[in-house]
Amino acid sequence: MNFKLTEEQQAVKDAARDFAQSELLEGVIERDTEQRFPAQQVRQMGELGFMSMMVDPKYGGGGMDTISYVLAMEEISKIDASASVSMSVNNSLVCWGLEKFGSEEQKQKYLPRLCSGEAIGAFCLSEPEAGSDATSQVTEAIDKGDHYLLNGTKNWITNGNSASIYLVIAQTDREKGHRGINCLIVEKGMEGFVVGKKEDKLGIRGSDTHMLSFTDVKVPKENRVGEDGFGFKFAMGTLNGGRIGIAAQALGIAAGAYELALKYSKERKTFGKPISEHQAIAFKLADMATKIEAARHLVYKAAWLKDEGEDYSEASAMAKLYASEVAMDVTVEAVQVHGGYGYVKEYHVERLMRDAKITQIYEGTSEIQKIVISRSILKD
Ligand code: CAA
Ligand code: FAD
Repeated sequence: MNFKLTEEQQAVKDAARDFAQSELLEGVIERDTEQRFPAQQVRQMGELGFMSMMVDPKYGGGGMDTISYVLAMEEISKIDASASVSMSVNNSLVCWGLEKFGSEEQKQKYLPRLCSGEAIGAFCLSEPEAGSDATSQVTEAIDKGDHYLLNGTKNWITNGNSASIYLVIAQTDREKGHRGINCLIVEKGMEGFVVGKKEDKLGIRGSDTHMLSFTDVKVPKENRVGEDGFGFKFAMGTLNGGRIGIAAQALGIAAGAYELALKYSKERKTFGKPISEHQAIAFKLADMATKIEAARHLVYKAAWLKDEGEDYSEASAMAKLYASEVAMDVTVEAVQVHGGYGYVKEYHVERLMRDAKITQIYEGTSEIQKIVISRSILKD
């Protein structure tokens, strides 16, 4: 077993850390307050290759492994989880899904723009009445011969307004249940497609989360991803990898809060000594560091399994379940280590605490991860 990063992986980690420090840190508090999408920074991330790290270079991607991707996700999430969720959706849901399951024409048409940062992608599965219970899709894609007629509403869509390429999951043949679901590529500007209201959120406030509505949108047949009825399998297969991205995001949020708490604990003095010399604070730091390290092992292991071509659905669910719990625990403690200063925006940890919560909800709640894990271990 080798725990050492390769030179290339270390270089990716350093580059992501430098980018986050130099380009994302400035203004992150204002973007959170004003709910402003980091458009310029995400564009730069595309130009630097962070939006398509694993895509084959022949389509404009970085051709990197999943370990490199999680290292970059971790570093960027330490500073700005709103930017990193955009990165995660574009990399592991949209680009990966299209590259793995799309036709050659679809790859050539969409991947170069998604890789360069010219276009951002969105993944549209959830609906007002279908979140965890994802097979109960109400959105319909009726087969009209050379096109589908798409009608319905999607909820909570990340990159909702900033995206221009949307993977939309919809029911074509209700009698076939989940085997009657399709995934369609919808482009912004198609007649009948409207970006609806923006959500006002607890955390990741810089991320633009929108409701989307589709009224008699004519989607050409060539925009269907995979065979007829493959849409639900597409969504589940893609989410297996997406959950590694969100697990890395949770890890980064936790590690970012821990780094701030560690630094502050050495600077802040009470009763004549740094608070890090009070055992209660030192033990908190020890707990935080241990949990983060355990989460890191699960996240890297899931990424490694994916790179090895092994089954990673159980490992990705475990990584997301645990890393998101750690993100919540560690960020709460980081606020505590900062005392009153932790409760104000200037010190960053209150934002990381608010951001941490979403990692237990999206890409499958913690309860859903336990369903995935328990079904997998019981099957064996
Ligand atoms: N990998 C591959 N295939 C899977 C799978 C997985 N992890 N989970 C299920 N499937 C397949 C099953 O094998 C089955 O296919 P067959 O019948 O051909 O064998 C089919 O999908 C249906 O599976 P189930 O019968 O298990 O379906 P279910 O109704 O019991 O639900 C579920 C399973 C795991 C709960 C699923 O509905 C689920 O994952 N729900 C959560 C949805 C989710 O994660 N949404 C995230 C939206 S995207 C997002 O959130 C992005 C973001 O924020 C940034
Ligand atoms: P529900 O499914 O209604 O769940 C409510 C509660 O019941 C949860 O605690 C859940 O765990 C629990 N529960 C439900 N079923 C079970 C069960 N069988 N056993 C035990 N407990 C259960 N979706 C997308 O498709 N694309 C996106 O880009 C996207 N981005 C998002 C961004 C944000 C900021 C948010 C908030 C959500 C986003 N989502 C996105 C949606 C997200 O994936 C769903 O919110 C999530 O899957 C949960 O669905 P729900 O909100 O309908 O909750």
